Amino acid sequence: MTPPRSALTPDPGRLNRGTTPTLRWTGDSIEIIDQTRLPAQLALIDVRDVAAAVDAIERLVIRGAPALGAFGALALVVGLDETQPSSMTDAHAVLERLRTEIGDARPTAVNLRWAVDRTIDAALGDAAVRSVTDLRRRLLSEALAISTEDAQACAEIGRLGRELLPEATVIATHCNAGRLATAGTGTALAIAYAKAAEGEPVRVLAAETRPLLQGARLTAWELADAGIDVSVVADAAMVSLIAGGEVDAVIVGADRIAGNGDTANKIGTLMHALAAAEAGIGFYVAAPTTTIDPAVTSGDRIVIEQRDPDEVHHAGGSRLTPVGVEAINPAFDVTPARLISAIITDAGVLHPPYGESIAAALAATRCGQPGDRRC
Ligand code: MRU
Repeated sequence: MTPPRSALTPDPGRLNRGTTPTLRWTGDSIEIIDQTRLPAQLALIDVRDVAAAVDAIERLVIRGAPALGAFGALALVVGLDETQPSSMTDAHAVLERLRTEIGDARPTAVNLRWAVDRTIDAALGDAAVRSVTDLRRRLLSEALAISTEDAQACAEIGRLGRELLPEATVIATHCNAGRLATAGTGTALAIAYAKAAEGEPVRVLAAETRPLLQGARLTAWELADAGIDVSVVADAAMVSLIAGGEVDAVIVGADRIAGNGDTANKIGTLMHALAAAEAGIGFYVAAPTTTIDPAVTSGDRIVIEQRDPDEVHHAGGSRLTPVGVEAINPAFDVTPARLISAIITDAGVLHPPYGESIAAALAATRCGQPGDRRC
């Protein structure tokens, strides 16, 4: 069923065609790709106020944990511009309001609140900031640094994942953990991009990811755009492909990784992990260290976002379910650490026992720096 390996080698001329950034600071607004309209339309939205920013987060116009962090940090500058506080005291109050209004707009993706906290705390804690103008400049520089660092983290995850998995040609993934979910080349998909950039054969099987179809719409769109071989697989079909020996490795992203390695990611991730264990292939989580939340000690303490049941009731504008029947719509599930072969981060590849490897990686990176609220 899988094509011969030579057919999976991407054409270098088609690589890296993704020239439209997922998010971009224009100078006074945030330009984002409207991911609700892909793949039918590549439409851009200009976000100029907090209501539009929160709406974009809640409706998944922008989504994916690292992209949410980069966007939320920039949205603070938009919020300051919108309210135009006349004193530092007023500006302080505005930022404290935005800390929760923007930072808690989605509860599971830790990068969102983390980036908002980091940006506000850096600006308010800077002794050189004496005016609202200084404050805006400082917020913006911290927010842009978060985007830059995320792009660097994606590149490092791609490099390390490619090194770790030289034999993995057919990669199964769930949801979208690519360019559209980060400020760089993605996390899980960064590994496919890194392989392709080296001219190595790679094929991605993208689980469709009901109910909002991030795999079918977004992963398929961005990989096809980059000239990487991608096939969409119905969620329920992926398990039998894995069990049937058609997949070399499963690689997914993460929305929040607990201190013990338990990982929250898009609903349906757990069934991939169980299938990989049954088939005896590797199940890998690829995520920047900013997605690790050591303050949450285990997966049962991760808050799982419950979304509108209408997302399950409807598809493509049509009602699927009988009126009067209830639907349940958890957006994420938790994969226990014991099912995870390794966690590929920008600070290295982490192996079990994760309590130890995560603590060591964080001590060497962000928890070694002052001001990280989660360390
Ligand atoms: O609801 P979404 O589309 O924001 O969910 C996204 C995911 O589950 C991703 O796998 C995760 O955020 C990692 S993105 C690099």
